Amino acid sequence: MTAVSLSRARILLIVSGGIAAYKSLELIRSLKDRGATVRVVMTAAARQFISPLSAATLSGQPVRDDLFSLTEEATIGHIELSRAADLLVVAPASANILARMAGGLANDLATTLLLATDKRVLAAPAMNVRMWLHPATRRNVDRLKGDGVLFVGPESGSMACGEFGPGRMAEPPAIVEAIEQALAGGTALGDSPGPLSGRHVIVTSGPTYEPIDPVRFLGNRSSGRQGHAIAQSAIGAGARVTLITGPVCLSDPPGADVIHVGSAREMREAVEAALPADAFIAAAAVADWRAESVANHKIKKGVSESPTLRLVENPDILAEVSKKTTMRPAVVIGFAAETENVTVNAKAKLRTKGCDLIIANSVAEGSSTFGGGTNQVEVIDARGVESWPPMSKAAVADGIVRRLALELAKHE
Ligand code: CTP
Repeated sequence: MTAVSLSRARILLIVSGGIAAYKSLELIRSLKDRGATVRVVMTAAARQFISPLSAATLSGQPVRDDLFSLTEEATIGHIELSRAADLLVVAPASANILARMAGGLANDLATTLLLATDKRVLAAPAMNVRMWLHPATRRNVDRLKGDGVLFVGPESGSMACGEFGPGRMAEPPAIVEAIEQALAGGTALGDSPGPLSGRHVIVTSGPTYEPIDPVRFLGNRSSGRQGHAIAQSAIGAGARVTLITGPVCLSDPPGADVIHVGSAREMREAVEAALPADAFIAAAAVADWRAESVANHKIKKGVSESPTLRLVENPDILAEVSKKTTMRPAVVIGFAAETENVTVNAKAKLRTKGCDLIIANSVAEGSSTFGGGTNQVEVIDARGVESWPPMSKAAVADGIVRRLALELAKHE
C-alpha cells in the first residue's frame, strides 16, 4: 500500500528504561523530518539512559514524566495527552512496562496514558534475550496482542544470524514503517474500509529449517522479505492476516498474527490451525526434504565413517491446501522459484499443485530474488502469463494484494 504521510500525524512517544532509549532520539528526529508532531513521555527509568532535555530539544515540545504535576493542575491533562494523539508508540518497551501494560497498571504517567487511551498502541520491545524469552514476558506479549497492541520487533538474530538472540529494539526506520502501517491500518478499519476488509488471509514466508541433529539443519537462502511484504500490504488493505514464518531476520509486521515455525511440518500444522481463510498465499521457500531420522545428540566426526543423510519428502503445503475439499480458501496463490525455464516450470506447478495463481520468479545465480530488495515476477493463471517489470518487493506485494482483491470479488 502507499506509504501514509506523517505530515499531520500526532505521535505520543513513550520512552521506557533501556539502553535502546538512545535510538528513540533518532526516532524522534525521523518522525519530525516526516512532518509528524511528537510528544514525548519518559518513565523514571528512561531518565537514567537519556536526558529529557535531549528529547525536548529534538521534539520541540516539553517532555512529560510526572503524573502528579498534571493532576495537580486540576485538569484531566493525562487523559487529554493520550486522546490528542493518533498513535501511542512505546519505544523502547522494556519487559517492565510490557508487564505493567498487560496487568493494566497505572502507577506512573506512561502507564496511566496507556490505560486511558482509546488509540492504537505500537510497542517496540527491547530487552535481554532471556527476559524476552521468559514465560512471563511471552504471556504478557500474548495478552497485549490479544488486547490489540501492535508490535514491531524485537530484531531477532535467532538461528539465521548466529549468536544473537531476539531482544534488540527494531531500528528507527523499521519503527517509522510500523507507525505508517499502524496509521494505515487505522484508516482501513475506520471510515473507508480497504479492499480486503473483513477478509482473513494466511501468508507463509521465509525458509524452513529441517533438523539433522540438535545443532545442524537443512535450509535455504529465502529471506522472507517478499512474504512479509505481502502480509504487510494485506494488512494495509484491511485484511486480518495470519503470517506463518520460518526463521528470518525480519521484524513481525505490526497488526499481523505472526506464528514462528521451524520445519515444513510445523508450518503445515500452523497453516491447518489457521484455517478457515478467504485466501492462502504460499510465499515460503519450504524445504522439499527432511532427514529421515534426526540424531538426538550432535553427530561427532571421527567416531564412524562420514555419515550418510537419508532424506524423505516433506508435505507439499500449497498442494494440500489447494486440493482441500472442505475449508479450501476461495483464492490460493503459490510461488514458483525457478533457476531455469521459469514460465514453463511455473505453468506446470499451477496445474500439479491446483492453485489459482502462481507468482513465478527466477532464483538463478545473479538474480537478487533471494535476500534482495527487488523482484521481477510473472503472474500466471489458467488464462495466461502477465510479466511485471522489476519492482521493489513492497510494490510486488501491493500488486499481488490488488490482484487478490479482484479474484476474491469474483467469488462474491
Ligand atoms: N511449497 C509448499 N510446500 C512444499 C514445497 C513448496 O507449500 N513442501 C510451495 C511454496 O511455498 C511455493 C510453491 O509451493 O508457493 C512452489 O515452491 P517451489 O520451491 O518453487 O517448488 P517445489 O514445489 O518445491 O518444486 P521444485 O523444488 O521441484 O521446483
